Amino acid sequence: MNAIKSEIYPVIWKNDQVLLIDQTRLPNEYSVVEISRSLDMAQAIKTMIVRGAPAIGVAAAYGMYLGALEIETDQRKDFLQKLEEVAQLLQQTRPTAVNLFWAISRMLKTAYESLGTVEEIKAILLKTAQDIQQEDLETCYAIGKNGLSVLPSEPHQLRILTHCNTGGLATAGYGTALGVIRSAWQSGRLLRVYADETRPRLQGAKLTAWECVQDNIPVTVISDGMAAHCMKQGMVDAVIVGADRIAANGDTANKIGTYSLAVVSKMHSIPFFVAAPLSTIDFELPNGEQIPIEERDPVEIYQVGKTVICPEGADFYNPAFDVTPAELITAIITEKGAFKPSDLSLLMSR
Ligand code: MRU
Repeated sequence: MNAIKSEIYPVIWKNDQVLLIDQTRLPNEYSVVEISRSLDMAQAIKTMIVRGAPAIGVAAAYGMYLGALEIETDQRKDFLQKLEEVAQLLQQTRPTAVNLFWAISRMLKTAYESLGTVEEIKAILLKTAQDIQQEDLETCYAIGKNGLSVLPSEPHQLRILTHCNTGGLATAGYGTALGVIRSAWQSGRLLRVYADETRPRLQGAKLTAWECVQDNIPVTVISDGMAAHCMKQGMVDAVIVGADRIAANGDTANKIGTYSLAVVSKMHSIPFFVAAPLSTIDFELPNGEQIPIEERDPVEIYQVGKTVICPEGADFYNPAFDVTPAELITAIITEKGAFKPSDLSLLMSR
């Protein structure tokens, strides 16, 4: 058994404010940003101080509570109307990760269904944000455990390739795809992680590698374009990625570059797994075509750090996510077990 620390919590509620690990500064600097206004939370989500679908959901839930505290009325109707405005502010931050919308709508529903005074509703909202956070942590542990049962049985010690960051930093803690990797490591079934650097924001190189190093998990960072070569060389036994939104048929939006990984995995007969909580499944969308894809500032493409790397006069395109068709996915690992994409509908009523 390998020991792991895994105590990475990107969102912490403390002394009436939210503490966020500033993920834009890792791995060179570990710093914490204090958030006490809903507007600042919206900005933190937009600028990716906090990022990763489940972590964004948790942060937005606390953002709703901070917004509720800012509302100065004891009239329930006025309060709910103003809370809707807070919801809109937070919803406008990032369009693809459905956990954001899921968490905000759970907070709103809680407020509407609570019949108490405004003060009592506020207290229930804090409790709901804390529940969302705690549930996500437990969900990640369950995903980690369920993932173990679908990993290839041979070789015993696997080399797993992953993309972006899906660890403690991207969730309430522990992680989804990286949660499965952590569980594999703990149970002696992991030899090494290959972490795609994940252009343009480098979540793999900066965050996944950092998390692995914290837990002494052997990690090799590769550039995104090297994945196919590594597979061809027989260096990869399985690929596990996270998800930002999964449509009802299993089509999966995740960090840009995931789709090409899935295609290349198929080419080399390497199993390709998606690990995500049920809160990432959007049963309202029949397939991936309707998933909104965030386009981010082209500066992320033409500049690395402070250095401009492209000539003036070039054009740029910067979609932050792509959609992997369900047929390329071996299984979707959730807290309720692992499912073939075509069986996702079994989860609808759970
Ligand atoms: O743009 P990001 O860093 O928020 O994108 C994150 C991803 O694409 C993750 O793979 C996904 O959110 C799953 S995190 C458990």
